[in-house]
Amino acid sequence: MLKIKDLKKSFSKRGIPLINNLSLTVNTGESVSIQGASGCGKSTLLALIAGFETPDSGDITINGLSITGNSTLPLNNISKTRNIDNFRKQHLGIVFQSFNLFDCFNAWDNIAFTARLKGNSDKDYQLALMEQLGILSLAQKPLSQLSGGEQQRCAIARALVHRPSLILADEPTGNLDETTSETVSDLLFKTCKEANTSLVVVTHSQDVAIKADTALQLHKGILENVKHEKTEQDSSSPFAAN
Ligand SMILES: Nc1ncnc2c1ncn2[C@@H]1O[C@H](COP(=O)(O)OP(=O)(O)O)[C@@H](O)[C@H]1O
Ligand SMILES: [Mg+2]
Repeated sequence: MLKIKDLKKSFSKRGIPLINNLSLTVNTGESVSIQGASGCGKSTLLALIAGFETPDSGDITINGLSITGNSTLPLNNISKTRNIDNFRKQHLGIVFQSFNLFDCFNAWDNIAFTARLKGNSDKDYQLALMEQLGILSLAQKPLSQLSGGEQQRCAIARALVHRPSLILADEPTGNLDETTSETVSDLLFKTCKEANTSLVVVTHSQDVAIKADTALQLHKGILENVKHEKTEQDSSSPFAAN
């Protein structure tokens, strides 16, 4: 579960902060999409959630552990210097627009190597994920022989392979044509749901955005509702950080 409370981030001292008292809760297994104008801070928000950027104030917790180090309960803080890398390896999966796979490896090695790096060598799960994402038959192919959609499906398998609790995806279909984007985004949402993994996906595509349980828009530093379909488990506002 992801909880963001009163988050602020500026890169300049002038004007409205890029992220301005933003709060958000994403429950286990839920998906949220974030749209917004170019330059409004979507990638920055993902970087803050992943702990690559430090906020000016506010708190972000993932499964009760504060990655910002601002929790009022010291034991719940992750020390940036010692544990953040391990924390990411264990809890986070990241999918980029440009796939970011290892070009010199085939599909299988990309997934298996990442799993090993993250201390998880459950081969059966790796194979099951590839099967689920429709790329098992491509396992031995060099990456150069895979289409953009196939590469992004590898990247999704790689992001999920260590059973993270949260996937962050930054415009994951931005490099794909419309039909491929439809297939890949369907698989992304479905695979996360089946693995009970929370998903935050930044997208320019309205078609992708509406597949999420909650569709939000980043505007003037805060998240606004685009559409919120109530789920059975959660009928509360996603902005409530409690
Ligand atoms: N590390 C940084 N240092 C200074 N400015 C930054 C940095 N990262 C992002 N920005 C600025 O913050 C704004 C938002 O960037 P970004 O989060 O990438 O927007 P989006 O993903 O919504 O297009 C942009 O004006 C960008 O130039
Ligand atoms: Mg961006």
